[in-house]
Amino acid sequence: MTAEIRVADRGGADLELIVSINNAVTPDDPTSLDELRWSDATYPGGTSFIAETDGRPVGVATTGRIYVYPPEFDAYWATIKVLPEARRQGLGGALLLAVSERAGVADKVALHIPVASDRPESLDFFGHRGFVEYERAKMVGLDLSGRSAPAIDPPDGIAITSLAALPELVDGVYAVALEAYADVPGGEEPIAAGDLAEFRARDVERPGIPADGFMLALDQATGRVVGFASLMFIAGQQKQAWHDMTAVARDWRGRGLAGALKRATITWAIVNGLEELKTGNDVDNAPMRAVNARLGYQPLPDELVLRGPLFSGIMES
Ligand SMILES: CC(C)(COP(=O)(O)OP(=O)(O)OC[C@H]1O[C@@H](n2cnc3c(N)ncnc32)[C@H](O)[C@@H]1OP(=O)(O)O)[C@@H](O)C(=O)NCCC(=O)NCCS
Repeated sequence: MTAEIRVADRGGADLELIVSINNAVTPDDPTSLDELRWSDATYPGGTSFIAETDGRPVGVATTGRIYVYPPEFDAYWATIKVLPEARRQGLGGALLLAVSERAGVADKVALHIPVASDRPESLDFFGHRGFVEYERAKMVGLDLSGRSAPAIDPPDGIAITSLAALPELVDGVYAVALEAYADVPGGEEPIAAGDLAEFRARDVERPGIPADGFMLALDQATGRVVGFASLMFIAGQQKQAWHDMTAVARDWRGRGLAGALKRATITWAIVNGLEELKTGNDVDNAPMRAVNARLGYQPLPDELVLRGPLFSGIMES
């Protein structure tokens, strides 16, 4: 058997291959051509590698900037996927070496890698290479089949509308994000909204985020945006979406606004024929987890982000 790792052509020829290997290995965390194209257009500089044995593609790894942290953050994001029949031959290690070298060229000192908690082979692999848990998200899902739309029931003084109805309010959405993102628990560094252009590209206008399902809470006394909740279709799916972000201005917290915004997105999802909504929150995000539990979301396996050193190819015993 001959094994080879090569840089993928993300400009075209290898895009479908990247999607098909990724989705065969982790169907619960799919990607799509649209998502890869969006990623390259919005955050250029990402690199993928293909692992081949005897000329047959059996693995893929991708690395690049972590979208929710500033560009100077000290780590790159990476994913490594090897088809089950090609495992335990050193390909995962070779791909980890390739993404590590790429991150090193970009002056990064670490990698962040997402792993589902129900994948012991992956947890062991990275654990043996110095990776430790950096963040843990409690994932939950809401089955919408047969469910009728809930009453939105906003707190007094609040009107719920959508960004599609009032697109000029995007600046107000950004103002809420600026304070809310800083308060999201997880990791050692708060996530960053970025500047308005980056925020719009990543969290508002990204393909898969429906503007009519992007719910806004307006303070009726002032017209100010005081909260929002958005959805994003799971890559390649028409009937399943993530809750992308739910955020409430600090001075409006503790009054039931997040629950009302979520009920508005659930209603949108039901009216538009979706079958399932999923979301994940940091283990320490007690308020959001309580809102989800009250709305009937059911637990799924935890999603971890592991952080570890760039791999040199040499294992310490
Ligand atoms: C994690 C993953 C990428 C590892 O891929 P892999 O190709 O099996 O990785 P390797 O072969 O390099 O290493 C796996 C184990 O096989 C061992 N191994 C390597 N070559 C071997 C060989 N020729 N014979 C027997 N064992 C071998 C390695 O030593 C390693 O064991 P260790 O961790 O105890 O050292 C793979 O399990 C996977 O795709 N998992 C699902 C996707 C996922 O969760 N990815 C991570 C997040 S994106």
